Amino acid sequence: MMTANEVRESFKKFFEGKGHKIVPSAPMVIKDDPTLMFTNAGMNQWKDIILGTKDPGKDVRRVDTQKCLRVSGKHNDLEEVGHDTYHHTMFEMLGNWSFGDYFKEGAIDLAWEYLTEVLKLNPADLYVTVFEGSKEEGLERDNEAAGYWAKHVPADHIINGNKHDNFWEMGETGPCGPCSEIHVDSRTPEEKAQVPGRELVNKDNPQVIEIWNIVFMQYNRKADGSLEPLPMHVIDTGMGFERLVRMLQDKHSNYDTDIFQPIIKEIETISGKKYGFTTPTGENGEGKDEQEKIDIAMRVCADHLRAVAFSIADGQLPSNAKAGYVIRRILRRAVRYAYTFLGQKQAFMYKLVNVLVEQMGAAFPELPAQQELITRVMKEEEDSFLRTLEKGINLLNGDMDELKAHGETQLDGVSAFRLFDTYGFPLDLTELICRENGYTVDAAGFDEEMKKQKERARNAAAVENGDWEVLKEGDQNFVGYDYTEYECHILRYRKVTQKKNSFYELVLDNTPFYGEMGGQVGDKGVLVSENETIQIIDTKRENNQSIHIVKELPKDVNADFMACVDIESREGSAANHTATHLLDYCLKQVLGEHVEQKGSYVDKDTLRFDFSHFQKVTDEELRKVEHMVNEMIRADYPLDEHRDTPIEEAKELGAIALFGEKYGDKVRVVRFGPSAEFCGGIHAKSTGKIGFFKIISESSVAAGIRRIEALTGKACEEAIYSLQDTIVALKGLFNNAKDLEGVIRKYIDEHDALKKDVEKFQAQAVERAKDKLVENAREINGVKVVTAVLPMEPAAAKDLVFKVREALPENMICVVGSVYNDKPMLSVMFSDDMVKDHGLNAGKMIREAAKLIQGGGGGQPHYAQAGGKNKDGLSAAVDKVVELAQL
Ligand code: SER
Repeated sequence: MMTANEVRESFKKFFEGKGHKIVPSAPMVIKDDPTLMFTNAGMNQWKDIILGTKDPGKDVRRVDTQKCLRVSGKHNDLEEVGHDTYHHTMFEMLGNWSFGDYFKEGAIDLAWEYLTEVLKLNPADLYVTVFEGSKEEGLERDNEAAGYWAKHVPADHIINGNKHDNFWEMGETGPCGPCSEIHVDSRTPEEKAQVPGRELVNKDNPQVIEIWNIVFMQYNRKADGSLEPLPMHVIDTGMGFERLVRMLQDKHSNYDTDIFQPIIKEIETISGKKYGFTTPTGENGEGKDEQEKIDIAMRVCADHLRAVAFSIADGQLPSNAKAGYVIRRILRRAVRYAYTFLGQKQAFMYKLVNVLVEQMGAAFPELPAQQELITRVMKEEEDSFLRTLEKGINLLNGDMDELKAHGETQLDGVSAFRLFDTYGFPLDLTELICRENGYTVDAAGFDEEMKKQKERARNAAAVENGDWEVLKEGDQNFVGYDYTEYECHILRYRKVTQKKNSFYELVLDNTPFYGEMGGQVGDKGVLVSENETIQIIDTKRENNQSIHIVKELPKDVNADFMACVDIESREGSAANHTATHLLDYCLKQVLGEHVEQKGSYVDKDTLRFDFSHFQKVTDEELRKVEHMVNEMIRADYPLDEHRDTPIEEAKELGAIALFGEKYGDKVRVVRFGPSAEFCGGIHAKSTGKIGFFKIISESSVAAGIRRIEALTGKACEEAIYSLQDTIVALKGLFNNAKDLEGVIRKYIDEHDALKKDVEKFQAQAVERAKDKLVENAREINGVKVVTAVLPMEPAAAKDLVFKVREALPENMICVVGSVYNDKPMLSVMFSDDMVKDHGLNAGKMIREAAKLIQGGGGGQPHYAQAGGKNKDGLSAAVDKVVELAQL
């Protein structure tokens, strides 16, 4: 029986033998694409080639395995994963690609040969589907594909499929085409004799499953819903790796294959619980429900481990926004299940990383390379969520106490939703805890709240993209590495509406404008024609093109334009970008080769650089780095740029590539002296342009990730001036003392000594005041009443009333009005018996009395303080407290 790793290898080798180039998986986390956060199909990374905006070059046949993540959709809804045995968040998709090379016949023949001759599947078990056509789209049945299939399978193994199953589309818009799916019937001979396999195709039978989807990409779906033919025919195939392995290893569940078993075994060892007493065939009686929950929890953990570890390896840390939030939710879901059903009250998922790396590290080198980072990030994220979980449980306990006090048995939907929203408690966890304590949860109320929130989110995020208005066909030519001004025309534009705000996006035929990418902001500038000047307020990047954002369209969109980049901000961000390269290089020299860039942001005023490092960078190390960077600036290394360099050559140049970054076959290498990186950004012409480099902060962003913020050039100049101004001002305050530090130190010492003296005098004054008040205490019906209005600090007044109580511990009420800095303050103190026996409550009474000084406050039954605005009401307020005491 083939192992999972052997299956993956055999696929790549087979297609390599058929002239395909083996290419690596693109990152699972997608950067710089506003429309998609995660790779959800093998073809994502080839979108530009398929649409014809990028030349495939000589490698028109490729093969790969692609890391994909799906967290929404019918079966991949995150909350469902783990409940069955064959859906996942992260999965691998094996694919072979033909860009304008072989088409339907070639793809069908290759797939058939691989399945029947390499994997030795029995042809009698294979069924194929073909697109039946669609009247509304004006598309015929895919007779061509059916004809080629007929070479391999009998007619009753070819099944028509509708648009839903047999017309593959990337999304609302984009490449699409008819497809053929291959289904395998792996039932027993008896079962097969009873019901023919063809009747179970696409019927959700776990033993008759689709393993391979072969898409014949030949259309592009436009925003208006119409189909236009693609410039070339493309073959896009996707074979679900996990289910293929399940079938080959003759298992009922993906989790029983050697892809997941090592992880599940480790979960068993750590948790002391056993997996799999309730496989679909298992019929054990008592304890079944509980066991099923354990099984689900183990599947959830095994599945989610992969999704989270691979995302972190791709540079995506858990966070509160976008892709980071999805990763956070996935990890939290696993933690919850482990907490609830596997008894894991401490961080635990991070302990599984080892096994995952052993299992998948050879095929995906990004895992072993970043094992330490993945482990640390996971552990910290788990720890922090477990703290939140504890808080949530306390809150829920409080809610249940309330229910008990009111004799109710159902937790309301709003409370359940608050637990979900703030503490990450999904409904089932809340229900579980409630059930254990004899309560139910208003699930409908919860759903209602959830609906409301989704509605709010939708309204907040609603962005409406208009259709592109195409003025000229053609592709954009980016000239920004060489020019900051260029003649151009508008190719197409569209209106975008976001809430009440609207703007236009323009695509130009030639543009020097850099679109935001790789942490560097987009250019700003102007678009000038003979008759008008339009501000370009920002430039984004989409599908490898610069999208220019303008508030207003030019009056004549067909005019000849000059696109002019704002030089000052361009040069500022270029210098800061170059400085990040130098910083990256120097950090590696000073701290070690483990330093990996994990994010950056540069604009004309900001330089932020995140990197992996497992402790605080010391002040000496920071200084060393600064010195080295400034040396490199003074060396004035020129920009040495290698465009369109084949990736192997780039690696030979010693250029650093980033994990999780998508690179084409050809890359741009940017070198400054010894620093060399893969980079598409805009840089200074030489390092000297940076001027000067100064780190202003070093901090932690996440476990194992540090952040450096720095200033360059003019910003450093300003920072030095402001520092100098502060020092000059300080010297001025101290008579231009030469030894400023010594003088200030002396001043602080004197200040501390004086403060102590004042405190001593104050204590004496309080003592005297106390004596006087006690001496003058009145008596009303046997209760000693101490009242006064005095000038005094609030803290001293507090001290005073406590001292009075010490002197008169029984049968006493004390009300002091004090004024400090013109502000009135009321302090009330009762002896304990007045609270216990007479039911007095200082906290409540002071609220009433404080109205007379236009103030408010509160406290405990025996002591309370209230501040106010009107000192003239102080005497009356003091009397009011005495009156409220009703002695
Ligand atoms: N694009 C197709 C899919 O995702 C085949 O790779 O199923």
